[in-house]
Amino acid sequence: PASREFLAAMPKAELHMHIDGALSPAMMFELAQRNQVSLPYQSIADIEAAYQFTHLQSFLDLLYLGASVLKHEQDFYDVTRDYFTHCHADNIRHTELSFDPQTHTERGIPFATVIGGILRAMADAQRDWGISSALTMDFLRHLSAASAMKALEQSLPWKAQIKAVGLDSSEVGHPPGKFTAVFARARAEGYRIVAHAGEEGPPAYIWEAIHELQVERIDHGVRADEDPQLMQYLRDTQIPLTVCPLSNIRLCVFERMEEHNLIQLMDAGLRVMVNSDDPTYFGGYLNDNFFALADAFGLTRRQALQLAHNSFTASFISDEEKHRHI
Ligand code: ADE
Ligand code: ZN
Repeated sequence: PASREFLAAMPKAELHMHIDGALSPAMMFELAQRNQVSLPYQSIADIEAAYQFTHLQSFLDLLYLGASVLKHEQDFYDVTRDYFTHCHADNIRHTELSFDPQTHTERGIPFATVIGGILRAMADAQRDWGISSALTMDFLRHLSAASAMKALEQSLPWKAQIKAVGLDSSEVGHPPGKFTAVFARARAEGYRIVAHAGEEGPPAYIWEAIHELQVERIDHGVRADEDPQLMQYLRDTQIPLTVCPLSNIRLCVFERMEEHNLIQLMDAGLRVMVNSDDPTYFGGYLNDNFFALADAFGLTRRQALQLAHNSFTASFISDEEKHRHI
């Protein structure tokens, strides 16, 4: 089995991490005071104690509440910078992070404020640690297609700084097909395409993301194993799945890590890799996810290296850049 030292030292990429999900309880508390936002918590310990989730929605309610402390460009910088300090510590060489503009624009924060702070932190991480990064803009699927289209239009001045668009938030009841026209427009504008599918939703939502949205990558996708034809398709096409082990345990997608299907998906020939999703909410950054897998499955060096390899091949960096990493 791979040791913790081996896993920690391995160069990696991360492809599924939400910036709002990197807000720590300490920073949430501090920003609430700095920005005079009232939270239903009296202390950092109170916030930590609230992190008991039963399913995706119970987490999202808290995620969106926490995000309300983010107001100024510097706040978005600070939370993104904090994530990058962990990238540096975890030996992440490239990261594709996502942001949800609607969480902020719906409460009156300008799009420019949100993206400005994030882009500045991305540039500083490249300068300070040589960590490359790309940005994905996720649409909130519980809101209307018209709202997503508006976010897409607002993003156009930053088209050169946004690599991809995706879909997140409450999955069940909001199938990918709700956003077919938005993603067609995004493709026409030159954005790469990803979507959350098959986290809590059925395999049919993964098919829909593939056929209706024309995704190049699936976020989560762990429920693919319920559909043999879909498994075959994902193996043949090598469409990557950005799997998030600790997230899936915290949100009760699997009861225990020992029951997680990541290794089975990898053994079936699918291109999967490890991601933290919302690290401050789910109890760990990327290396913690690898350690949890190692504890549950006795991950071998070969398996760990395969997962790290997949994280680079599934990324949106150029072939030339990929060769510098692998
Ligand atoms: N937003 C942040 N994390 C998410 C997840 N795991 N699923 C759906 N929406 C999210
Ligand atoms: Zn996610």
